[in-house]
Amino acid sequence: MAPRAGLPVRRGRNVRAVKAQDLTLEPQTAAHAAEMFVVLSDPAIYEYENEPPKSVEWLRDRFTRLESRRSPDGREQWLNWVVRLRSQQLAGYVQATVGEDRNAAIAYEMASPHWGRGLASQAVQAMIDELYERHGAQSLTALLKQRNARSLRLLQRLGFSLATPQQHLQRAAEADEVLMTYHGSA
Ligand SMILES: CC(C)(COP(=O)(O)OP(=O)(O)OC[C@H]1O[C@@H](n2cnc3c(N)ncnc32)[C@H](O)[C@@H]1OP(=O)(O)O)[C@@H](O)C(=O)NCCC(=O)NCCS
Repeated sequence: MAPRAGLPVRRGRNVRAVKAQDLTLEPQTAAHAAEMFVVLSDPAIYEYENEPPKSVEWLRDRFTRLESRRSPDGREQWLNWVVRLRSQQLAGYVQATVGEDRNAAIAYEMASPHWGRGLASQAVQAMIDELYERHGAQSLTALLKQRNARSLRLLQRLGFSLATPQQHLQRAAEADEVLMTYHGSA
């Protein structure tokens, strides 16, 4: 059941594992850094934006900071899960920033050997269900490069649609970016 509107967003530390058919989302911790460094070193992930982690130590520091599950001012939930397949291999991650307006800005990355099998769709859908059920989300957004056709298809399959020009402005979307939104329930 969706939480009542108007409740302060004080969740975040209470992040749990989420099971889907072919994978489990595990709350990301510093202990995942060494294994995730290998997963995230796949250059195919960065065809459109971002870059691979600089070192295992750099990634461990980052994951340690993110374990607070909150922004420094306490106003946002910072939620990160790694994606573990049934083979026990880690395949990527999903993440969400849930603001006081109850919008969850989502992102995701999977290593390329796992593309084209519906695993990313499963992982992102499992996170969305959890965001609505447990973290107070009432809407979702995703900002991506226009050329990132795989990511766009994934969002469209999950029911996202193009945001309005005003929403693009509010989120300071760049000229080569598109903002996708989802307002339904999980
Ligand atoms: C974006 C990204 C996660 C998408 O991964 P993906 O493998 O294309 O997505 P899915 O796992 O949902 O796979 C969908 C494809 O598998 C196919 N598929 C096979 N079995 C499927 C199933 N049971 N269910 C759904 N799709 C299935 C679909 O037909 C689909 O192919 P299509 O896109 O050609 O139609 C991946 O490309 C990625 O990590 N990219 C780099 C990082 C990135 O760009 N992140 C997003 C930044 S906004």
